This record gives sequence, structure tokens and C-alpha cells, in this order.
Amino acid sequence: MKLNVNFPHHPYDILIEKGSLSQAGSWLSQLWQPQKVVIVTDNRVARLYAEKVKLSLESAGFEAYVFDFFEGEASKNLKTVNKVYEFLVKVGLTRSDGIVALGGGVVGDLAGFAASTYMRGVHFVQIPTSLTAQVDSSIGGKTGVNTPWAKNMVGTFTQPDGVLIDPEVLHTLGQRELIEGMGEVVKYGLIEDKELWDELSEMDGSPESILEHAESIIYHSCDVKRKIVVEDELDNGVRLYLNFGHTIGHAIEATAGYGKVMHGEAVAIGMVQVSRVAEKKGLMPAGITEDIIQMCQKFGLPVDYQPWNESAFYQALIHDKKARGNSIKLVLVPELGSASIHQIPLEEMKEFLKK
Ligand SMILES: NC(=O)c1ccc[n+]([C@@H]2O[C@H](COP(=O)([O-])OP(=O)(O)OC[C@H]3O[C@@H](n4cnc5c(N)ncnc54)[C@H](O)[C@@H]3O)[C@@H](O)[C@H]2O)c1
Repeated sequence: MKLNVNFPHHPYDILIEKGSLSQAGSWLSQLWQPQKVVIVTDNRVARLYAEKVKLSLESAGFEAYVFDFFEGEASKNLKTVNKVYEFLVKVGLTRSDGIVALGGGVVGDLAGFAASTYMRGVHFVQIPTSLTAQVDSSIGGKTGVNTPWAKNMVGTFTQPDGVLIDPEVLHTLGQRELIEGMGEVVKYGLIEDKELWDELSEMDGSPESILEHAESIIYHSCDVKRKIVVEDELDNGVRLYLNFGHTIGHAIEATAGYGKVMHGEAVAIGMVQVSRVAEKKGLMPAGITEDIIQMCQKFGLPVDYQPWNESAFYQALIHDKKARGNSIKLVLVPELGSASIHQIPLEEMKEFLKK
């Protein structure tokens, strides 16, 4: 299955195909001339897949090197980026060479950032390996790293030359990571894709069913994301739809301490909470909150968080970069499969945090 991300200045394809990882070389040779490439990955993904990708690239004529860093969010910083630069210099990567990001969202964001800044930018492609990366972070061109002051504070908008998705690699992903990725998938169904929602409704929710439906789920999710990002590359308009459940979700993540509640889990809790209040206010259809709760629970996503601390959440969300002045743009779902933006005074946000 193929999707085109149709940016006028930089169109690229997303190829979604089981087993495609071992074809990475022939895929890349359709995008780039044989040249030097550095595969940037983390230690866990390196152990599982780096050799396979390297061999495939080499047999397609590329001179391939692997750089890996320690897995996890704690590595997503400028210190690791410096190590990447050091490696690129060591192997003599030039502006006509490229970087392959092989891994989850941490790898994709960091490798993309390194690629967009090293020598003012070298080519890069994404080979996402976590569900979160396959349905979300590998598409849309947001790259970046965390700083001691904020998550994703330093970054660029840089589109890859292509995205290769092999759903087979999800078999080695941890169960919690797999389920977490479903938070964003459920969100895509709600904000844009009734067909995806219906498919999710028919599944039994087990990890096996996620793996079985992975190709289709990923296709639908990428389709939603690519349409939205093409319309609003720099995140000034409809891209906000992607933030359904995120305003409260981010506040929960920040309050819990990053890493305790995973992003997709926090999004699920956020979607449920915002819907509960919006439904009561008549801004979302009757019964939708219960539908979202059932869908999330079926896949093993949390729908509640304890201790629920309204004032701590409120403090966290006013520091969120989405808050502008005294108001906040809140995404709602007035009808299943379509989203809308409500600009509300920050004070009113307190109501959305009440249980
Ligand atoms: N750029 C964007 O638009 C965007 C969107 C969403 C999230 N993100 C970012 O993505 C990051 C989260 O991504 P993530 O959840 O993929 O985290 P991650 O990259 O840390 O991956 C999670 C874990 O899964 C492991 N892993 C990945 N693929 C695997 C596989 N196939 N088999 C076994 N293990 C595998 C990794 O080694 C890691 O330990 C965050 O930093 C977030 O800010 C960016």
C-alpha cells in the first residue's frame, strides 16, 4: 500500500508493506543514487534490525554505516545529537549523502533533527519501527529534541524523502508500547476517519488483533495524518485537530513526571475527560464518551488517572505551548469522524478538568 504526502515543495511516498524491511535497499535506490548512508537507530532496534537493513542497503550499492544510541526518551537531547554529528564527520558524510532513521519516535525525531542541521541539511528517510512512529511521528516533518527546560523544545520542520513501514516489526515491540500506539489510532478514527473507527469497533482488542489489522490501521492513520499535515505543514491551523485529547493528556504527562504515563495512554485519558465535559455541555453528541471509553478499554488503554489533581493539571496546561494569551484552542469532536476547534478562555478550561 502506498500513500503520497503531497507537499508541493517536497512530495514523498509512504510505503506500507509487510516484510518490506529486507527490501530497504531496493526501496532506497529508487529515491537516492548509491552513496554513503548512516543508519541512526537505538541499541534495542539496532540489535533486532540494523544488520538486516545495512545488508539490504549494501546489496543495493550503498556504503552503509550504523550509529546507535541508548534507547529511550532520556537520550533525545542535544548531547546525543552531538554524538551523531561526530559519527557523521568520522565517516565523512557529505551534503550529497543521507541518513536513515530506523526506530521509534525518539530515533525519528533525533535523526531527522541531525539530518536537517548537519551541514545545513542532508537527505533523510524514515523507517519507523514502533506503532507510534508508524502511525504518527514519521509523517509530517516535525523533528527535534528535548532540553532541560521543555520537551521537543529545539527542532525543525523537515520532510523526509520517503517513509518505509514494515508492520511485521511490530511483533517484537513490547505489549505496552503496542497498546500505547493505539491511543493515536483511536484518535484518528474519532477526528477524521469513520471507516477506521468501524474497523476498530469490529476488532476484539487483543494485541494479536492489533498485529493482524496492523497494515490497514497504519494505512488509515497515515492517510489522516498526511491529509492534515499537507494542509497545514507549519502547525498554524487544522494540524491542531491532531491534538484531540492532547491538551489534558500533556498536562497529565507533565504532572505524573515524564515517562510514568505514556503519551498514547495520556491521550486516551485526555480524550475521555474532554469528551465527558463537552458532552455535558452539548458540544459533543450524547453517548460519544461511553463509546470512546469502551473503545479505549477494549485495547487496554487507560481511561482514568489517579490522583486527579485539577489545579496541578491547570498549572501544567497554562505552561503548554498551545496556550496563547488568556485563551486556549481546544479540539472537540462534534460528530464521530470530524473535529472542530473551540477557542475558550483559560478560566473555562477549569471546567474541562472537573470530574
Ligand atoms: N515528530 C512527531 O510528529 C512526533 C509525533 C508523536 C511522537 N513523537 C515523539 O516520539 C517519541 C515517542 O515515540 P516511541 O513511542 O516510538 O518511543 P521510542 O522511540 O522510545 O520507542 C519505544 C521503545 O520501543 C523500542 N522499539 C521500537 N521499535 C521496536 C521494535 N520494532 N521492536 C522492539 N522494540 C522496539 C525502542 O527501542 C524503545 O525502547 C517521543 O519522543 C515523542 O515526542 C514525535
